[in-house]
Amino acid sequence: MLRIELLTKRHDRKGFDCGEPALNNYLKKTARQHIEKGISRTFILVDTEEPTSILGFFTLASCEVVTSGLPGKSGRIYPAKAQAAKLARLAVSTHQQRRGLGSIMMVEAMQRTLAVAENIGIIGFFVNAKNQDARKYYEQFGFIALPNNPLELFLPLNSLKAAIEAADK
Ligand SMILES: CC(C)(COP(=O)(O)OP(=O)(O)OC[C@H]1O[C@@H](n2cnc3c(N)ncnc32)[C@H](O)[C@@H]1OP(=O)(O)O)[C@@H](O)C(=O)NCCC(=O)NCCS
Repeated sequence: MLRIELLTKRHDRKGFDCGEPALNNYLKKTARQHIEKGISRTFILVDTEEPTSILGFFTLASCEVVTSGLPGKSGRIYPAKAQAAKLARLAVSTHQQRRGLGSIMMVEAMQRTLAVAENIGIIGFFVNAKNQDARKYYEQFGFIALPNNPLELFLPLNSLKAAIEAADK
């Protein structure tokens, strides 16, 4: 059975490889420190039969947004700066890619973001895509590229709710 849990010392961080050294290094060297300091939260996808082996991970953090850069009318309805959630990292082990695990983690990340929105109020969910392929990956969940920076994407709250509902069906 698959389970998503907070990264701890007992997870095998050294054994994880998603093919992107920067993401591997973040998981190995930085993610736990950032949890301890309250900078971000990194969650791990495991199979309960092998609970220390990391199949994938994602990192959530808060961010401040300059709203004039948002697409469409979003740029006009908010004050100049607003708070949002950010998908700071997302990665799946090379052996497990293209099996839907990234999508499972995306839905979990969106559910956690919705809980933040319902409890303290944020305008939506952001992600920086590292390249055009990654941008396309995020667009399929409803993320919209920012007009002045196509590798930075925004998922407004309504779209986030719709994506979670679509995944539940
Ligand atoms: C990008 C990543 C997280 C996707 O996770 P995944 O588990 O492999 O993807 P999923 O199985 O959930 O993919 C669902 C669909 O998204 C699309 N997709 C998957 N990977 C994609 C990619 N790299 N680029 C564009 N679209 C992609 C496909 O349409 C896929 O469906 P299909 O396999 O039936 O064609 C994973 O490939 C990964 O960790 N890559 C290396 C690290 C990375 O690039 N992280 C993103 C940094 S911005």
